[in-house]
Amino acid sequence: MKLIDARRDFYRKLAHKEGYRSRASYKLKELNQSYRIIGPGFYVLDLGCSPGGWTQVALELAGNKGKVMGVDTSYVEEIPNAHIVRGDIEDESIVELVFEYFGRKVNAVICDLSPQVSGVWAVDHAKQIAINYAASKIVDHVLAYKGNALFKVFDGEYSNEFRDYIKKKFTKVQIRKPKASRKTSSELYYICLGYNP
Ligand SMILES: C[S@@+](CC[C@H](N)C(=O)[O-])C[C@H]1O[C@@H](n2cnc3c(N)ncnc32)[C@H](O)[C@@H]1O
Repeated sequence: MKLIDARRDFYRKLAHKEGYRSRASYKLKELNQSYRIIGPGFYVLDLGCSPGGWTQVALELAGNKGKVMGVDTSYVEEIPNAHIVRGDIEDESIVELVFEYFGRKVNAVICDLSPQVSGVWAVDHAKQIAINYAASKIVDHVLAYKGNALFKVFDGEYSNEFRDYIKKKFTKVQIRKPKASRKTSSELYYICLGYNP
């Protein structure tokens, strides 16, 4: 077995053993350990949440006093204590649903969005960046002052443009690739701390 496959397999098995719905859970756990994107009592919006691995981790991090809402176009099996909405984040009516559920602005928005991939890299990259712009519009409506955000980014031609756009809105932006992310994948995570547009 190649090293990359072995590592992938390791996180997949660990997720199964620990009851997480996806390997992706470990990406959020690792990033949160370094950057405290989500803390106890946080209200968290999870955009592109299916099958729910990040939602599960967000619930743990936010604790009893926190609240978590997930949005995805795909079906998500119920996650106890989380509020799941089936919808498209490019539809701005999602904003109303966010306020309906939380009753106020949220402390963190986490986005692990991936489009349906076509296999044509330039197209998939452009689509993924476009969904991130849509997500950042939602962020502008719902994120509280000094709140945090996390974006998955397919790294490529348009990612620096997106980084510069997002940098204007946050006090600090860091770019990381967590261990659970495949070395062969082009994904990076933009950790955005202290919303201050
Ligand atoms: C990599 S998965 C997310 C995995 C999730 N973070 C987890 O830990 O289980 C990416 C998700 O983004 C969703 N997605 C892509 N475009 C979307 C859109 N416009 N609106 C809502 N969800 C979208 C996809 O349906 C897919 O489920």
